[in-house]
Amino acid sequence: MRRFALFLYAVLVGAIDPTPSSDNSLTHCNTKLKDISGQPMCVYRTPDKKTQTAQTADKATQPKAKDLPENTNPRVWELSRANSKFAFEFYKQLAKSKADGENIFLSPLSISTAFAMTKLGACGDTLQQLMEVFKFDTITEKTSDQVHYFFAKLNCRLYRKANKSSELVSANRLFGEKSLTYNQTFQNISEAVYSAKLIPVNFKDKPKSARKIINAWVANKTEGLIRDVIPPDAITPYTTLVIVNAIYFKGLWKSMFEKEVTVKRDFEKADRSICKAPMMQQQGSFRFGKFSKDGVKVIELPYKGDDVSMVLILPLAEATLTGVENQLTHEKIMGWLKQLTSTDVELSLPRFRVEDSFSLTDRLKQMGLNDLFNQEKANLPGIIEGTSNNIYIYDAFHKAFLEVNEEGSEAAGASTVIVMGRSLRPSLEIFNANRPFLLLIREVAINAIIFMGRISNPC
Ligand SMILES: *[C@@H]1O[C@H](CO)[C@@H](O)[C@H](O)[C@H]1NC(C)=O
Ligand SMILES: *[C@@H]1O[C@H](CO)[C@@H](O)[C@H](O)[C@H]1NC(C)=O
Ligand SMILES: *[C@@H]1O[C@H](CO)[C@@H](O)[C@H](O)[C@H]1NC(C)=O
Ligand SMILES: *[C@@H]1O[C@H](CO)[C@@H](O)[C@H](O)[C@H]1NC(C)=O
Repeated sequence: MRRFALFLYAVLVGAIDPTPSSDNSLTHCNTKLKDISGQPMCVYRTPDKKTQTAQTADKATQPKAKDLPENTNPRVWELSRANSKFAFEFYKQLAKSKADGENIFLSPLSISTAFAMTKLGACGDTLQQLMEVFKFDTITEKTSDQVHYFFAKLNCRLYRKANKSSELVSANRLFGEKSLTYNQTFQNISEAVYSAKLIPVNFKDKPKSARKIINAWVANKTEGLIRDVIPPDAITPYTTLVIVNAIYFKGLWKSMFEKEVTVKRDFEKADRSICKAPMMQQQGSFRFGKFSKDGVKVIELPYKGDDVSMVLILPLAEATLTGVENQLTHEKIMGWLKQLTSTDVELSLPRFRVEDSFSLTDRLKQMGLNDLFNQEKANLPGIIEGTSNNIYIYDAFHKAFLEVNEEGSEAAGASTVIVMGRSLRPSLEIFNANRPFLLLIREVAINAIIFMGRISNPC
């Protein structure tokens, strides 16, 4: 039996870029559970016993009434927590496979979204592994079909902001081989929940032009920042479906850096060698914390609008980045974030650009997502119409881009004093990112980790 290759692409871009961009229509935000006609082909039920163990283990971080953001569905909050748990586990897998000196940048949220879309058509062990690896089984709701509904709600929380001071856009699409018939229920749910319309393309006869069509779509959704996301030869006449999630973020600092004070300074890379990086500097009041036991300093830099922020995690001089990475968990980060207090800080941060792309397949297999990528075992009967259950995921890729520079809001700076060199104020803390550090870009209210990464070499 011929197996079709399903090609999964999680594509995203993060950019701090002041140019205006297209508007973002979220038709699915008005969707109610009852409006979604049809059910995914299979529903996975989390075993009772497992739910209890998971809940006991999670007790410390189980959403307490007081932690739940206002007007937030508790399950949406739990989904965000599940995504965050996945994010740190995945990051650790990824960091293990990269050299210490390499930068890392990814959108764990984009990866979770692309695989949640795939989950719509999954059954059996394939479905169970998706539930477990992506931590969807930690949501109190027992059945897998509910996850999609909470994803729809989470996406609305994240991507529809009344005041667009920072811009976060997510776009999903399915590109399917036009000679096949895709299950209408699958398409309907995909569109209702993820706004992902299926676009028919001719992979069989024109794989090259199909690749161009997809790449052009991604470039358009990412303001031209990600081009040629699908490499040459990755699309073959056997490709049946390409699932794409693209995330684009643009934010202006609430408190900008003055371009005039950015100077080239030494940055000590992981191997102790020195390079010259343009260091942006400012002094101001930020949420800050020093955690000697964990060996880190943490600072939170809000973007204009305060709904999205960048969290920087800098290992203390006596700690190593690898040591810090190894202890990263959702719980640890939540603990740090809770303890940050408004502090006067002298901040130095390199201006940089990172681009990262990698295959997700091996890392996810190591985390237990095996069947999906296995030609014999993959169980995805809900995607293509008819009885033939013969598709599997051929490969899944991810590409991400981030640019950080001085751009700030026009209203900012009123309370910001720019200093050159070191101030003598005794209460002033120093946060000097002149050696490898970690960063998170998060939605503050619901603590969704939109992007994360490691800057080992900004030069
Ligand atoms: C499409 O999927 C639904 C479940 O989501 C299933 O009930 C239906 O039989 C499928 N249709 C076809 C034609 O395979
Ligand atoms: C949006 O911004 C305007 C002007 O700054 C303000 O008056 C309004 O209350 C804001 N709306 C929301 C929903 O935050
Ligand atoms: C899919 O949606 C279309 C348009 O809303 C509707 O007419 C059709 O009945 C739906 N099909 C299924 C199988 O749910
Ligand atoms: C994306 O496509 C829209 C609609 O075709 C167009 O108006 C817009 O300029 C395009 N944006 C980019 C960055 O190519």
